[in-house]
Amino acid sequence: MKNFLKLLAFFTIILSLTFSRANAAGEQQELLKVDWSFKSFFGKFDRASLQRGYQVYSEVCASCHSLKHLSYRNLAEKGGPEFTELEAKAIASNFEVTDGPNSDGEMFERPAKLSDKFVMPYANVQEAIAANGGAYPPDMSVLVKARGGGANYIYSVLMGYEDPPEGMELDDGVYYNKYMYGNKIKMASPLDDDIVEYSDGTKATVDQMAKDVTTFLQWTAEPHLETRHKMGFRVIIYLVVLTILVYFSMKKIWSRIETKV
Ligand code: HEC
Repeated sequence: MKNFLKLLAFFTIILSLTFSRANAAGEQQELLKVDWSFKSFFGKFDRASLQRGYQVYSEVCASCHSLKHLSYRNLAEKGGPEFTELEAKAIASNFEVTDGPNSDGEMFERPAKLSDKFVMPYANVQEAIAANGGAYPPDMSVLVKARGGGANYIYSVLMGYEDPPEGMELDDGVYYNKYMYGNKIKMASPLDDDIVEYSDGTKATVDQMAKDVTTFLQWTAEPHLETRHKMGFRVIIYLVVLTILVYFSMKKIWSRIETKV
């Protein structure tokens, strides 16, 4: 039995090493930490938060930040905000996309369909930079994964606007942010209490909106998070059962030899 426990402990250590993610080292300012529903091993997205997060993205962030990897149909897919197909269609139809050419060889505008990609706020990178005082509003599809600190970083930036410390001069269009690299950011604080009106009655505080939009951006960066967690859980069960089987078959095989010696 002692050996068996040792073996189990060994497997547990190997597994926890495999599944724990290395922490991004060297962050300058300790980030704000949120107890995200999707973080734990069994973690799932908070569906209502994802839907509110989409609302914040589309009403506030979408005028500057693109989500080029997303299609409107993703909004109705399992594991995401899970809008109904009708709701997703209605959302898509609010946007205009260029299609064509038609039989006269001309391009034309039509309402977006589920299969269309999210409409981009700017025609190209240069236009985006020109419209934002020389700074590029990064595409948000995988922003959460591209930044050390992930969701906590995005949340912290949204919550990190403060008056600059005494003696620090900021140029026009540059703002002080505790968590941005170098503490300077060329994005004015995008959130303000009640800047959106949530249809589920949740109070739209800056903190709530920052959490919701970050949850939404975590999903855009990792749309298969829930499937991955489910799979991981099954793999663990499988390995535990396998360990037990291997252990007892090993005992059985060796028992013949041990008794002879
Ligand atoms: C008016 C345009 C505008 C709006 C609206 C806007 N942003 Fe930004 N955002 C920018 C620009 C420009 C930058 C780049 C700033 C820089 O590099 O100094 C930026 C940078 C960021 C960053 C930092 C990214 C990094 O490089 O680490 C985050 C996070 C972010 N935005 C989130 C949001 C969220 C979430 C919203 C909606 C709630 C939003 N932004 C709305 C223009 C905007």
